[in-house]
Amino acid sequence: MIKEELQGLISDRSARIGVIGLGYVGLPLIVEFCLKGFESVGFEVDEAKTAEINAGRSYIVDVTSENVKKCVDEGKLIATTDFTRLNACDVIIICVPTPLRKTKDPDMSYILTAGGEIQKYMRHGQLIILESTTYPGTTDEVLLPMFEEKGFNLDEDFLIAFSPERVDPGNPQYQTHNIPKVVGGVSADSTEVSAMLYGTIVDQVHAVSSARVAEAAKLWENTFRAINIGMANEMAKLCNALGIDTWEVVRAAATKPFGFMPFYPGPGIGGHCIPLDPHYLSWKARQHGFDSQFISLAEQVNSTMPNYVVELATNALNDERKAVNGSKILILGVAYKKDIDDMRESPALSIIDLLRADGADVYYHDPFVPVVTFDHAYTIGEAEPLYNKEMTDDLIRDSDCVIICTEHSGVDYGRICELASLIVDTRNALSAETRNGSNARIVRL
Ligand SMILES: NC(=O)c1ccc[n+]([C@@H]2O[C@H](COP(=O)([O-])OP(=O)(O)OC[C@H]3O[C@@H](n4cnc5c(N)ncnc54)[C@H](O)[C@@H]3O)[C@@H](O)[C@H]2O)c1
Repeated sequence: MIKEELQGLISDRSARIGVIGLGYVGLPLIVEFCLKGFESVGFEVDEAKTAEINAGRSYIVDVTSENVKKCVDEGKLIATTDFTRLNACDVIIICVPTPLRKTKDPDMSYILTAGGEIQKYMRHGQLIILESTTYPGTTDEVLLPMFEEKGFNLDEDFLIAFSPERVDPGNPQYQTHNIPKVVGGVSADSTEVSAMLYGTIVDQVHAVSSARVAEAAKLWENTFRAINIGMANEMAKLCNALGIDTWEVVRAAATKPFGFMPFYPGPGIGGHCIPLDPHYLSWKARQHGFDSQFISLAEQVNSTMPNYVVELATNALNDERKAVNGSKILILGVAYKKDIDDMRESPALSIIDLLRADGADVYYHDPFVPVVTFDHAYTIGEAEPLYNKEMTDDLIRDSDCVIICTEHSGVDYGRICELASLIVDTRNALSAETRNGSNARIVRL
């Protein structure tokens, strides 16, 4: 029986683990398996990444190079672009991107390509797990038939499950091992073996009755965040209109020990998950004749935030008899969130673009991001790339406006307050104490 075969391999750590896609999700995951004694092969299409890993270097903020080197030196980890080696793996975990098409429909091409590679090289006895975030039904409607087409039977020749990834890049408290893992198999055996596998690397596994439940749970989690951030953004605009300090309000509300969970406003949502994942759910819902109104509303509110930040900056400059056209604007922090280098869907891109379209001279400082490119299809201003500027006193002093888009920790906000004339703080990066000692005019979200 395939279930017992795989359970035996997992319990004595002789199961060979293959991970397809070594990005923010796949690299931490494979390193965790190697550190627990499993021999693992990472499959990548990007040769630069395989070269880095095989040289013992990490390119992901939450994975140390020491750990990568240790795994490589001990012969536990190897990265490759050779997919024929999938055949030798007992477990294959798919961690490829799931972006949206321009029409905001799911782009399944990466999952299909990874599934196609598995289909080519699969053999009897393998467990296949999808971790990429996707709509409910993907595992059993899209992947399962690909493997059955090859003549393999579920539970007799292979097992298949979905287990969503919940990694929070840059979060030092919660990392792979202490984030509970939800697992849902297409069959009971698939669930059982997958739960056993993840039990070797995480403290807590929560098994559910199907892959669809696990797929839906992940989308519920991220849709919950998108909607609550949307509400926080609307509350920020509302408080602003009423002349009330948004941040003081949310701090006060958060003292309630039950029934309230604080979410914070910001310049817009970014990253590979929150702006995208709810669309996977609403797309699938539409196919069943259901219109998910909360998702649309949250998207509407969240997508106005970059324009709102530009409006705040424009009005503040106007108060000083300055136009955006010709103003020098320093964007502080361009990554989509604090202390990481990820630029995907970062709202700073839209803010820079809108300001450049209005004629501003825009530059940025971000210790994590050396260059920002504007090659996406929606650029309306100049498409010239920008390069990280060193944050000298002159740079701050000569800027007509400083917009804090991302509140990285290593930045000396006291110095900004001392030298800048106008600051738009979209993240509450400036503490009351820093603001009190400031010479600058400060506009807050
Ligand atoms: N980044 C996060 O915080 C996060 C959190 C939870 C879930 N997720 C989900 O996990 C999935 C992966 O996200 P990520 O952030 O790791 O993406 P990523 O872009 O950082 O990594 C994906 C990797 O897959 C590689 N790749 C693409 N096609 C491939 C193929 N056919 N074969 C092998 N490798 C291939 C890419 O080169 C890249 O290195 C997505 O579905 C995402 O929604 C991401």
